Amino acid sequence: MKVTRRVFSRGLVAAASSVALGNKATRIWAQVQGEHYQMGMKHPVPPIQETETPAEKAARMRWFREARFGMFIHWGLYSIPAGRWDGKEIPGLGEWIMNEASIPVAPYKALAAKFNPTQFSAANIVGLAKAAGQKYIVITSKHHEGFAMFNSRANSFNIVDATPFRRDPLKELAAECRKQDIKLGFYYSQDQDWTAPGGAAYKTDHHQPPTFHWDPAQNGSFPDYLHTKAIPQIRELLSNYGEYPAILWFDTPTKDMTPELAGEIVKVLNEHPKLIWNNRLGGGYKGDTETPEQYIPARGYPGRDWESCMTINDTWGYKQDDTNFKSTETLLRNLIDIASKGGNYLLNIGPMATGVVPAPEVERLQQMGKWLDVNGESIYGTRATLFGAEAGSFSPTEKDENGKPKFIPSWKWRSTTGRNQIYIQIFEWPGTSFHLDNVPREVTSAYLLADPSKKPLRLRKSGNSLDVSLPAQPLDPIATVVVLKTA
Ligand code: GLC
Repeated sequence: MKVTRRVFSRGLVAAASSVALGNKATRIWAQVQGEHYQMGMKHPVPPIQETETPAEKAARMRWFREARFGMFIHWGLYSIPAGRWDGKEIPGLGEWIMNEASIPVAPYKALAAKFNPTQFSAANIVGLAKAAGQKYIVITSKHHEGFAMFNSRANSFNIVDATPFRRDPLKELAAECRKQDIKLGFYYSQDQDWTAPGGAAYKTDHHQPPTFHWDPAQNGSFPDYLHTKAIPQIRELLSNYGEYPAILWFDTPTKDMTPELAGEIVKVLNEHPKLIWNNRLGGGYKGDTETPEQYIPARGYPGRDWESCMTINDTWGYKQDDTNFKSTETLLRNLIDIASKGGNYLLNIGPMATGVVPAPEVERLQQMGKWLDVNGESIYGTRATLFGAEAGSFSPTEKDENGKPKFIPSWKWRSTTGRNQIYIQIFEWPGTSFHLDNVPREVTSAYLLADPSKKPLRLRKSGNSLDVSLPAQPLDPIATVVVLKTA
């Protein structure tokens, strides 16, 4: 239990450092680590994870465990300023601009009148996810800014009532996901809400304790906020979109979310027995999934479901000045690395205020899809590696930011496991032969996944070791997959 919390905190630290928040993140976490946020405490309302049988849990998690690759979408009013306020570039994450630039509630809310993303097309976005080989989408239904990207009766600061656009993108996405057969999940910021009175704000250096608010309009009672906005909106999200959401993705719990208040949310979640929800509700609830942010855990989380969420550049919400896009090679390596450790990759895109997805993001996703068209069999529905050392090792001398031995990844190859297959994704072509020690299964034949003729590769065995003959050149410059058929 302790491990869970530690790992989550490391995730936030890693995320924050990668977006140049530096040490601030450690202190941000301290707020969450208050007396109210302890794992293993008695929950006032038992969540589904504690009442279902292992078989029921396996059935509920089944699609998620097979999916391996999902699309995260951060889209909201913050896509209008897109990282600039009053002509200045604002450091930090695009969707944090209101907090980073201390924008008062009134001018921030006024952005809604300008939000008219007429080029938004659910068909295009779902089509892009399909082309990328992604099996699910998780979109921000309300981020910390407090603006609902859906039709809400509970609160009028929403895309239908407060903008000239007047459409509900979640409804359009749900219809399209149904049509194109892909799962849809909703991110919902249940705790931080910077425009609703009483909504929480994370501890930051530029705002004052105890509330860390920057505008008196933000003051109010957190339980009132929860009862009049968050819980009613969570109910709307869970009832207005048919079989969706498949996932409810919570974020940034603070100490305001006591076990009792979180329990009230859990009561609502328990009414939806197919729903999957993450470990960021707060109040000590573990949820279904670990959510390492901006990093891949060295060895995964044996015994826990997990999903690494990562940005494609350095921001979640669109920022016009952030062009630091990761290469397709890095993105594919991440996906393969995560699959080899038994997790899912939730890769973010940040649509613009027009509704259009930035071209460099589209391009990378399409390239990933091309690789998966050929090699997806080695990713979807597979299990973690039967080996392990190929991922790298812990340094005997160097320490990470938590003072633990630093993990030094190796990028020669990875492996995933099928029922009768061992897949080897080779990044660094080893010449004409690939050597493998400690092979735990009897290998009967081998071929390259990208070879349509499946021409058998010559095998030489000695004890538990295996040598597989390879052509002199890889079939794919990023990763060529060897399939070892096993008995
Ligand atoms: C962080 C940020 C948030 C982002 C999330 C994604 O917690 O606060 O802006 O949505 O990470 O995991």
